[in-house]
Amino acid sequence: MTLKNTVEVAKSCSLVAFVASCLVTWHLYQFLSNQTLSYNQSATFDELNHMTEGFWRLSTPLNKTRKAELDEMFVRYWKHQKIPVKRWGENEKCGYYNFLDSVPHSSWPRVGSWCNPEGSHPCCNNYLNGTCGEVSNQTCNCSQCVDTRLYEHAELSNWITKDQSFSWNKYVGEDACQVIERSPFKDIYFIGDSFMRNMYTVLLMILANDFEKGPWTINMTNQQRELCVEMNTLFYPACRPLATNGQKLIQKSCVDKNFNVSFKWWPNNSNGRNFVKLVQNLSGKRGSLLLLGVGYHETILPAK
Ligand SMILES: *[C@@H]1O[C@H](CO)[C@@H](O)[C@H](O)[C@H]1NC(C)=O
Ligand SMILES: *[C@@H]1O[C@H](CO)[C@@H](O)[C@H](O)[C@H]1NC(C)=O
Ligand SMILES: *[C@@H]1O[C@H](CO)[C@@H](O)[C@H](O)[C@H]1NC(C)=O
Ligand SMILES: *[C@@H]1O[C@H](CO)[C@@H](O)[C@H](O)[C@H]1NC(C)=O
Ligand SMILES: *[C@@H]1O[C@H](CO)[C@@H](O)[C@H](O)[C@H]1NC(C)=O
Ligand SMILES: *[C@@H]1O[C@H](CO)[C@@H](O)[C@H](O)[C@H]1NC(C)=O
Ligand SMILES: *[C@@H]1O[C@H](CO)[C@@H](O)[C@H](O)[C@H]1NC(C)=O
Ligand SMILES: *[C@@H]1O[C@H](CO)[C@@H](O)[C@H](O)[C@H]1NC(C)=O
Repeated sequence: MTLKNTVEVAKSCSLVAFVASCLVTWHLYQFLSNQTLSYNQSATFDELNHMTEGFWRLSTPLNKTRKAELDEMFVRYWKHQKIPVKRWGENEKCGYYNFLDSVPHSSWPRVGSWCNPEGSHPCCNNYLNGTCGEVSNQTCNCSQCVDTRLYEHAELSNWITKDQSFSWNKYVGEDACQVIERSPFKDIYFIGDSFMRNMYTVLLMILANDFEKGPWTINMTNQQRELCVEMNTLFYPACRPLATNGQKLIQKSCVDKNFNVSFKWWPNNSNGRNFVKLVQNLSGKRGSLLLLGVGYHETILPAK
């Protein structure tokens, strides 16, 4: 997956979070069903390879209704965050070094300019500093080229794993709860940055069996009620505080409620001390599972 600008990252992160959270439940399922898999230091997490070794394939025929819904959802978000909605300029220059005009009063970092995927010049011949051109191998299909026609909402695609014999189990609701309840893990921590928060939030949605309002709480603000619906929950800054409700949700939806799952916003090295403390607190306690990670925005800073 090559993500061509900040906006593309926002587009695909919700699906990635879903896949990743499903993997957590899948991994636990493997533990239950396959006694030979052991959680010692040498255990391999092959599922992570399945997340990264593969490619997105557009579903055909393209669901135009869904596409329109997704377009609308992202445009609303971009406007709210003051991110340029149009992704190309008038002068047909393209690439990371050809910045679009910022939205007035925006604090969002400046973003590169691309080409109109529906126009006659959809391809950028150089992803750093190029010109939009018509369809040809020189403009669309070279190592520096970007064919904007190939970029579509990840939600309209399926992730095809390189190992085609691998298949996903998407546990939701009670089944997902049971997978965890029957596992040895009683205290599950998601630790890291926004990527881990999204994985955690989607796990709450999976456990609550509610992808619209899974992580909702009683005392939300009106703004949160308006914004934090479905995958929007993963984008808007106002929805971030919702990633604190694990225990309450589990009590609502899981029958045995014999585990806790929580999120620690420890996004950088300055939180190392907290992490060590947590590990010390948990050492000797059986059934702790710490999932530590940070998101990586591939190709966003191509010059570095
Ligand atoms: C297309 O998307 C719409 C809106 O999300 C959905 O209601 C419909 O079921 C989808 N159609 C197909 C064939 O998947
Ligand atoms: C982009 O390319 C043009 C020539 O096409 C050049 O004049 C300009 O300096 C380049 N800009 C950067 C930032 O490399
Ligand atoms: C690109 O080159 C391949 C052969 O390398 C050729 O089959 C294909 O038709 C070319 N595509 C275009 C758009 O010219
Ligand atoms: C892109 O180029 C490769 C070889 O360089 C060729 O195999 C492939 O068919 C080309 N793709 C298109 C869409 O023209
Ligand atoms: C209500 O919101 C505050 C702050 O937003 C939070 O600290 C508190 O835990 C919330 N209470 C409940 C019951 O969710
Ligand atoms: C979950 O957390 C609650 C409150 O923090 C605690 O009382 C309970 O013992 C915890 N349950 C497990 C299984 O650790
Ligand atoms: C590191 O994370 C903390 C939040 O725990 C934040 O306050 C701080 O600004 C971050 N530092 C950097 C350099 O990003
Ligand atoms: C470790 O445990 C102590 C006492 O239970 C608690 O006050 C503290 O917040 C915990 N620290 C972390 C990082 O979990």
